[in-house]
Amino acid sequence: MSPLGGEAARFPGPAVPTYDLQQVREDFPILEQKIHGKPLVYLDNAASTQKPRAVIDTLSRFYASEYANIHRGVHFLSEVATKAFESARERVARFLNARDSREIVFVRGTTEAINLVASSYGRTHVGPGDEVILSAMEHHSNIVPWQILCEERGARICVVPMNDAGELLLDEYERLFSSRTRIVAVTHVSNALGTRNPIRRMVEMAHRRGVPVLVDGAQAAAHARVDVQELDCDFYAFSGHKLYGPSGVGVLYGKLERLEAMPPYQGGGEMIRTVSFEKTTYADPPHRFEAGTPCIAGAVGLAAAIDYVSAIGLDAIAAHERDLLEYATARLSEIDRVRLVGTAREKACVLSFVLSGVHAHDVGTVLDHEGIAVRAGHHCAQPVMDRFGVPATARASFALYNTREEVDVLVRGIVKVREMFA
Ligand SMILES: Cc1ncc(COP(=O)(O)O)c(C=O)c1O
Repeated sequence: MSPLGGEAARFPGPAVPTYDLQQVREDFPILEQKIHGKPLVYLDNAASTQKPRAVIDTLSRFYASEYANIHRGVHFLSEVATKAFESARERVARFLNARDSREIVFVRGTTEAINLVASSYGRTHVGPGDEVILSAMEHHSNIVPWQILCEERGARICVVPMNDAGELLLDEYERLFSSRTRIVAVTHVSNALGTRNPIRRMVEMAHRRGVPVLVDGAQAAAHARVDVQELDCDFYAFSGHKLYGPSGVGVLYGKLERLEAMPPYQGGGEMIRTVSFEKTTYADPPHRFEAGTPCIAGAVGLAAAIDYVSAIGLDAIAAHERDLLEYATARLSEIDRVRLVGTAREKACVLSFVLSGVHAHDVGTVLDHEGIAVRAGHHCAQPVMDRFGVPATARASFALYNTREEVDVLVRGIVKVREMFA
């Protein structure tokens, strides 16, 4: 598919990415598929991204010739697998520009990373009458763990509101801090609106009051360079499956001094130093937080995904996706009866929309018959739907392999839906 074909020619702009888009598309075998007889147009990347051959082949090779359990064995394969797992940790550390690979904890995904912090950090720092600041655009994964904690501890949640474009109100954020604020947990990029939040500034405002910040990076890590030292956040969470890697693995970055001061999250093998029935002592981070056999192949596959996107270049990916976002925003705005939900000035490549008179699920179902995969629903962000007064939206979310021509297919699909429900 040429990025310059069809309707795209009407729109000026850097339509040619700084990488070989055709080659990149060929790296993803699933994109060759037809769905309901139509070429697949995969625009559900915020839910999960597809996997390049580099990741698929790494997983296959690892299972075929390098696999064993890690850390505990003296035999050859155990050492090979341990090296692969620990090398994955180092590559994740470099990817995030963490100071030290001990700051990288492998978890199941963003959800588990947030639960880990809420449970371990939260239980030791949040008490009766204390406050946790969240934003109005959080995914349920960054709401419910804090609610469970606050209910248990007699603490309360304070919510940063947003404007009609879906931008957080920083003056209100500032006003929410009190002597009882114990932690801020905020998303880097909203999965429901696409808003990219000013994390550096928000961290600075929190740190001025001595309050740590957890950043939910689930929607950010695959789409632009993340530098945890520059952000200066205390915790950063992301999922492998949204970064072209395997499902079942994710990362919690934590500043070493924070992790060192935190008690274990789960108990079991791997996370101990010594065990007796009288007293157990715990391993240092990151192993303290990795009880049991981890997702070994998943971590190795995630590192392959990181190598893959790093070779293309996160800045090049971000530039291409910015072009897609601008093009798609312009084209969807031209469609009668379409309303975009989430029009922040700083956005990532997520387009939520409603077609008046048609339920989002019907939009999704008709588009599916055109081979177009979008998501329809509340996107695990019910408070966002309530804020914008809609029960659900349809959401097209883009990745490094999407093209302007695919946006054109989406536009034609939406017009078809509108005509069917006229
Ligand atoms: C912003 C955000 N946070 C958290 C999550 C949860 O990620 P996971 O299901 O991989 O744990 C998602 C998933 O959609 C998300 O978009």
